[in-house]
Amino acid sequence: MTPEQIIITDVGPRDGLQNQPKVLRLEQRIALIEALSAAGLPQIEAGSFVSPKAVPAMAGTDQVFGSLQSTGFKTSTIALIPNMKGYQLARGAGVKTVTMVLYASDGMAQKNVAMSMAEAEEVTLEILRLAKQDGIEVIATIAVAFECPFDGPTDPAVVETIAAKFLAAGADQLVLADTIGAAHPQQVRELTAALVANHGAERLGCHFHDTRAMGLANVYAAVESGIRRFDSSIAGLGGCPFAPGASGNVATDDIVMMLQQMGFETGVDLDKLMQASDLAQVLTGTAPGGRSKAWLQGYLAKQAS
Ligand code: COA
Ligand code: ZN
Repeated sequence: MTPEQIIITDVGPRDGLQNQPKVLRLEQRIALIEALSAAGLPQIEAGSFVSPKAVPAMAGTDQVFGSLQSTGFKTSTIALIPNMKGYQLARGAGVKTVTMVLYASDGMAQKNVAMSMAEAEEVTLEILRLAKQDGIEVIATIAVAFECPFDGPTDPAVVETIAAKFLAAGADQLVLADTIGAAHPQQVRELTAALVANHGAERLGCHFHDTRAMGLANVYAAVESGIRRFDSSIAGLGGCPFAPGASGNVATDDIVMMLQQMGFETGVDLDKLMQASDLAQVLTGTAPGGRSKAWLQGYLAKQAS
């Protein structure tokens, strides 16, 4: 029987690097993206088109995409955008897939992009309309889908309403983001099961942070509901500079290990993933490296001998 596939998007070069005190040079960002591609990650969030004043680490994302295109880079790359200007810049840079951020709270929308939830929805609908004409895919990500650092716990009904609206509007994917890593597996299971029951799993994905050490458990809960798309970050890098308390994403190192052991196909080569993880740690000097890395390295060394 062919193993069932799970598609992992490594968001390290965006979610990971945006929150680092150290700003990487363009060639370092590109080297990390290339290492992730070499490890077999099928999708990579390679940067964001945001104000360089707001997020200095993402300045020059147009050049990152330009350089990848000029070298015939084949792996699917995604750019995060916060607003219409971001969409226009991404389109100008030849980006084929954008992640546009929606919000399950007004507090987070205001702090992140100085908009209300409703304004972000309106802009996203307009971006979806343009993207259809431009042949660009749109991933709609709902930030603070479980809890907001400003407005507290999120009502699941709010998330369900936004999800239904944007799936109906033709979003290519709809991702639930636990921006600050506050969700627990029971909540995740209930919300993802309800969404899968109403919309099917095909276009749904999840994005977890590991702040309270529940990242992997949340991935498992979502897998149990039928979700087959996950964001994760190499070496557990990550966090949002505008969401106090957010720590790293669930580490790609950990999620790949768990899913492969459960018999899912991720397309990722663990040896090469460890090389990408080492690179992320060397470049940033701060990546935690996930929680399984020491064991994984020992296991891989034993396999090789
Ligand atoms: N890319 C680059 N520059 C942008 C931009 C974008 N997507 N959107 C706006 N700008 C620029 C404007 O041109 C303006 O530049 P100027 O000061 O040189 O004239 C400046 O940013 C402020 O623009 P304005 O429309 O007044 O923005 P704002 O103050 O209402 O909102 C954001 C600020 C949204 C641009 C800024 O906070 C941002 O980029 N946030 C990104 C948040 C983020 O990345 N969060 C983590 C990922 S979810
Ligand atoms: Zn995130």
